[in-house]
Amino acid sequence: MTAIPAPALVVLVGPSGSGKTTWARQHFASNEIVSSDALRAVVGSGEGDLDASDDAFAVLDAVVAARTRRGLTTVIDTLGLDPARRAAAVTTGRAAGLPVVAVRFATALDLCRQRNRLRDRPVPALVLTAQFRKAADADLAADGFDVITVAQPELVLEPAHAPGGSAAAAAQRDRPAGLRFALQISAFPWGADPTRPRQWLAEVARTAEQAGFAGIAVMDHLLQIPQVGRVWDPIPEAYVTLGYLAGVTERLELGALVTPVTFRSAPLLAKIIASLDAVSGGRAFCGLGAGWYEREHAAYDLPFPEVRTRLDTLVETIGTLRAFWGPGTKPHGRSPETTCYPRPGRVPIIVGGGGERRTLRIAAELADGCNLGSSLPVLDHKLTVLRGHLERNGRTIDDLKVTVLDLPIVGNDPDQVGRLVEAHRGRTSAKAYAATHHAGTVAQQVGRYRLLADRGVQTVFVSLPDLTGPAEIERFAPIVQAFSG
Ligand code: UTP
Ligand code: MG
Repeated sequence: MTAIPAPALVVLVGPSGSGKTTWARQHFASNEIVSSDALRAVVGSGEGDLDASDDAFAVLDAVVAARTRRGLTTVIDTLGLDPARRAAAVTTGRAAGLPVVAVRFATALDLCRQRNRLRDRPVPALVLTAQFRKAADADLAADGFDVITVAQPELVLEPAHAPGGSAAAAAQRDRPAGLRFALQISAFPWGADPTRPRQWLAEVARTAEQAGFAGIAVMDHLLQIPQVGRVWDPIPEAYVTLGYLAGVTERLELGALVTPVTFRSAPLLAKIIASLDAVSGGRAFCGLGAGWYEREHAAYDLPFPEVRTRLDTLVETIGTLRAFWGPGTKPHGRSPETTCYPRPGRVPIIVGGGGERRTLRIAAELADGCNLGSSLPVLDHKLTVLRGHLERNGRTIDDLKVTVLDLPIVGNDPDQVGRLVEAHRGRTSAKAYAATHHAGTVAQQVGRYRLLADRGVQTVFVSLPDLTGPAEIERFAPIVQAFSG
């Protein structure tokens, strides 16, 4: 089955009653479909007001031009029988840098006739037959379309941010691969009622557990970061929150993504995570990074040295954590003893960040895992750099757990995807927001995650930009289940 790229300019071609409007509504968001019939009802007395055709097509052309200029998917729902109009659409789409797709409706003439007869205003039989011939004769290749396909009940729309995603989704159906998901809670929209935070956290965590998530992560920030929300939005202290989550869950792994090494002395961090591991029954992991948000350091009276020093501290901290978590007690660094009880089990250290010269090298040399961005082309490049660092340390990619941080917009259908993008895009254009947040339906996300699994990603940390509570986690659950093998 041919995949249709998204965004794209899509031209439907088929006689009346061949099912164009029905198909478009099934597969596209309503505002992505521009229909000459619907516009006749806007500029004229109704869909059948043929006298309003010229005006309707003028509006249609204006809408198509405006939407394609913004890089938005647009489906032209007309008969598509006029070669000059098809060629004009190709020109418009190409000028906007969008792939131009023709979808042919190969419905049998008898069926079109049958459906036509049932309509309030049937097309005259001879007109329908002429439409059918014209549609069959349309030379779409000569029109210059990038993709020409025949409409099928199942449409494969492939977002441009995940090329190969549709084949990957099919592969995941036929030969499922495993992939672990951890829910990253970045914002805490629990409202003003002081009794809500603990309920909200418990509901979210238990829903994630039931949905099959392998873990929960919180950001270790002292001020809400501008990428997520406003500085006065609530963001509870990470390890206090994780301690509470340990009490209300049974199975989820728990950790911060990521803990800046600038916040606490390394031995104190060892103590805190050892305690988290104890009260959670061995479920702690340690995301670790160099820290970057200067403002929170200033506000909380914490030193924020230059990046080089912070990266040196990252290296030292990994050594100190392991020393304090290891057996026995001995002097380490500035500490005369590494006495740290309770002693944790094996707590994996995941170094966060994609800095190629040092951060990835530190991950390759010293860590159990790394955490990278989830954008495919960038990830491919980072993995190449990482493999180089690993080789130089006599390790392979199998010795390091590759994890990614993903901030996806997930909808049950294209309409919901579109609404969510619009609700959360802020001042970013819809096209750019959809691309950076890998916006897509559940089915499309399964394909994209399979592409990540194929690259050796072991765990996806999922931070849902629209997370308000259990509902968004439940919407994501089928994706987790598709990879739970
Ligand atoms: P459509 O209204 O989708 O056809 O279907 P169309 O190609 O867009 O037609 P025009 O060009 O606007 O006139 C026509 C009828 O056929 C039914 C629809 O419910 C509608 O009543 N239909 C369509 C089906 O029953 N099954 C299908 O798979 C498609
Ligand atoms: Mg129609």
